[in-house]
Amino acid sequence: MVTLAVVTNTNEVPSELAILLKTNCARCHNKETAKGGLNLAELLFDLQHSEVRSRWIQIYDRVEKQEMPPKAGSLSRPERDRLMSLLQQFRVHVDAFASSTGTITGLNTA
Ligand code: HEC
Repeated sequence: MVTLAVVTNTNEVPSELAILLKTNCARCHNKETAKGGLNLAELLFDLQHSEVRSRWIQIYDRVEKQEMPPKAGSLSRPERDRLMSLLQQFRVHVDAFASSTGTITGLNTA
């Protein structure tokens, strides 16, 4: 498992998260078909950029609300649970980052 310490030091999306997104989301969110303007292939993990943080928060929210993927059944229960738990770790990380820098977590794309 990728630890948060590793995540902090890299702009790469943690590999297990990247694989889940690739398998379940990339067919609609790639360079050619960036549904909703979201191209996962180019989404990094450089959380110091508020734009990038907002993107990950959107992803978290849409998966949590079971709005993504659009056909709920296309993501198996264990996969959804795993994805949510990885995104949950990320969420904690973002919140910690935001509080340490005084920025507010949310969908503001400043
Ligand atoms: C079958 C195609 C399809 C799949 C698979 C899919 N999406 Fe989407 N997604 C869309 C469409 C279409 C939109 C734009 C309409 C909307 O916002 O509902 C969208 C919008 C989004 C948005 C909002 C982007 C914005 O800027 O508002 C996010 C975040 C998102 N998807 C994340 C995901 C994630 C994460 C997965 C995988 C778990 C996923 N999607 C799988 C079709 C898909």
